Amino acid sequence: MGTDELLRSSAARVSKVLDTSKYQNLDKAKLLEKIDDDIQELNLLKRKIRQLEHIDEKAESEVSSESPTTENGGAEAHTAETSERAGEEKKEIAHWKDRTKSTIDHALQTAEAIRKDNKPRWFQLVGLIHDLGKLLYFFDSQGQWDVVGDTFPVGCKFSKKIIYYDYFKENVDAKNPLYRTKYGLYSPHCGLDNVMLSWGHDEYMYHLAKEQATLPPEGLAMIRYHSFYPWHSEGAYKYLMNEKDKEMLECVQAFNPYDLYSKTDVRYDIEELKPYYLELIDEFFPNKIVQF
Ligand SMILES: [Fe+2]
Ligand SMILES: [Fe+2]
Repeated sequence: MGTDELLRSSAARVSKVLDTSKYQNLDKAKLLEKIDDDIQELNLLKRKIRQLEHIDEKAESEVSSESPTTENGGAEAHTAETSERAGEEKKEIAHWKDRTKSTIDHALQTAEAIRKDNKPRWFQLVGLIHDLGKLLYFFDSQGQWDVVGDTFPVGCKFSKKIIYYDYFKENVDAKNPLYRTKYGLYSPHCGLDNVMLSWGHDEYMYHLAKEQATLPPEGLAMIRYHSFYPWHSEGAYKYLMNEKDKEMLECVQAFNPYDLYSKTDVRYDIEELKPYYLELIDEFFPNKIVQF
């Protein structure tokens, strides 16, 4: 499905949700429930439409053909590039440069917004590094990976609140009798630390930071869960949360606006900000050299 088609199907869905005739003759409780459902669905559709701009010309085949699987005991992102690489070198280098530039701009915009609000230094560092996994992981990977959607637990039933849920219907995991159950490999309120999430730049950076940085748990949660929209914005997977996750959820929600709304046109001067942020990195990465 191409982006035009995705846009059309999202728009059709919006029209359906906005059909107000369904509100007639409902009692108060049902009416409120229906409104809640519709608000959630509209928010989800809004995110879907927003994310279309991140789907480049290749992504459409990636999204539909590659789905998450735990076949090898691990999680794979559903957006893995599988297509012809050879003839695309030049295009990729240009794409890479654009990506690097936009990722660094976004890193500085996020970190600066957090810094301007006088948040703690570890919080500022999270703003700076939360998306760096996009560059580092892709640099090291065999194919070029892209990120067009949410992260989500694997090994249990997919929530309908995952942005491209419809693509999962044909997924290996969706057909696995264990993985398609509500809890799958997990148990009620087992805690998200014990849940395997789909692989992507969030998870990559989280593991790196956990091993090599001295960030507090709140900072690690912000990195790990920042694309876990079904959870932090749609209220899904509550049944896997433990007490710690309730606190972490608040932190991730506090981080989200900086991630979303710092994507402005403001371009910071990297050279000017470099000394400040190099010192910040050194403060939380005590080994000074980061192993990727
Ligand atoms: Fe991200
Ligand atoms: Fe981000």
